[in-house]
Amino acid sequence: MSTLAPPSSPRRLGKSDLSVGPIAYGCWRFAGSDLAASRAKIETALDLGMTLIDTADIYGCDTGHGVGAAESLLGEVLADAPALRGRMVLASKAGIVLGTPYDSSAAHLREACNASLRRLRTDTIDLYQIHRPDPLAHPAEVAATLAELRQAGKIREVGVSNHTTAQFDALQTHLPFAIATHQPELSALRLDPLWDGVLDQCLRTGATPLAWSPLAGGRLSLAPDEARRSPEGARLTGLLEALDGLARAHGVARSAVALAFLMVHPAGVIPIVGSQRLERIRECAEAMRVELTRSEWYDLVEASLGESLP
Ligand SMILES: NC(=O)c1ccc[n+]([C@@H]2O[C@H](COP(=O)([O-])OP(=O)(O)OC[C@H]3O[C@@H](n4cnc5c(N)ncnc54)[C@H](OP(=O)(O)O)[C@@H]3O)[C@@H](O)[C@H]2O)c1
Repeated sequence: MSTLAPPSSPRRLGKSDLSVGPIAYGCWRFAGSDLAASRAKIETALDLGMTLIDTADIYGCDTGHGVGAAESLLGEVLADAPALRGRMVLASKAGIVLGTPYDSSAAHLREACNASLRRLRTDTIDLYQIHRPDPLAHPAEVAATLAELRQAGKIREVGVSNHTTAQFDALQTHLPFAIATHQPELSALRLDPLWDGVLDQCLRTGATPLAWSPLAGGRLSLAPDEARRSPEGARLTGLLEALDGLARAHGVARSAVALAFLMVHPAGVIPIVGSQRLERIRECAEAMRVELTRSEWYDLVEASLGESLP
């Protein structure tokens, strides 16, 4: 039986001229005061071909360091090792405001972009994403602001995150260039983009899907007894057993199989891994050499759904 292989070579981000590796590295949990340790995480990711580095202005809040902290830390790493900037496609996001909670108005996006550039200590953000849709912002206004930032050279490409297909279309209608990326939550445990049209929209438009929390934020790494006690209970336990069986067969970590499961989708899903441990980041990179058969892929889908497909 033929196998489905994850793409391993660099490929274009959407229809842009940017070239990225098949796995990305995310900075949601990127925190701390040890600059050498922070630099090692970014260098390890880049060395493994995880060349898209994803952050956001809001990252730092969930680690107790406050708005902008993750970007500032990445900026410190880039100041410490300036050559790293040229090795990465730097992605950030705006649009979440603590206490509001969403603001994609022209005034806010302009201000947020300038603040991100300062914190990241860079002249341009390669991929600028609207973090969550703001129903109060007319898509024409959002598009005009993004086009203005792009024209000014402050950003190179544009993406969206947590957008429905209709919200993606509404923004695209007003943009004079193609949206490069769609960033939904997507993992072997959260399969919604497979059925809600997001991956189909990527196939249709050429946008690259970036999967956030591709290991379900660590839930796909739980031990069996922890999984049984989790809210997903039997469904998660069954999924982990299926992943472990394939991990043994392929001689890789469970995480690598879970990522390969996403990467073999024809839309060219790029999972954004978020581990802060070098050894785990390396294990994730093993996904690039995992090939799955069609029936193995569907076994994982059925395990995730907790039922057989019709
Ligand atoms: N657009 C959005 O709304 C949105 C939302 C959330 C995330 N994101 C993006 O997605 C990225 C990844 O999210 P995530 O951190 O939730 O991703 P993830 O890769 O699904 O989960 C990473 C978490 O799992 C833990 N983990 C436990 N065992 C692991 C193993 N064997 N291998 C790897 N990780 C293991 C990690 O802990 P250790 O660090 O201890 O390894 C870490 O806490 C973020 O950094 C961000 O860029 C975007």
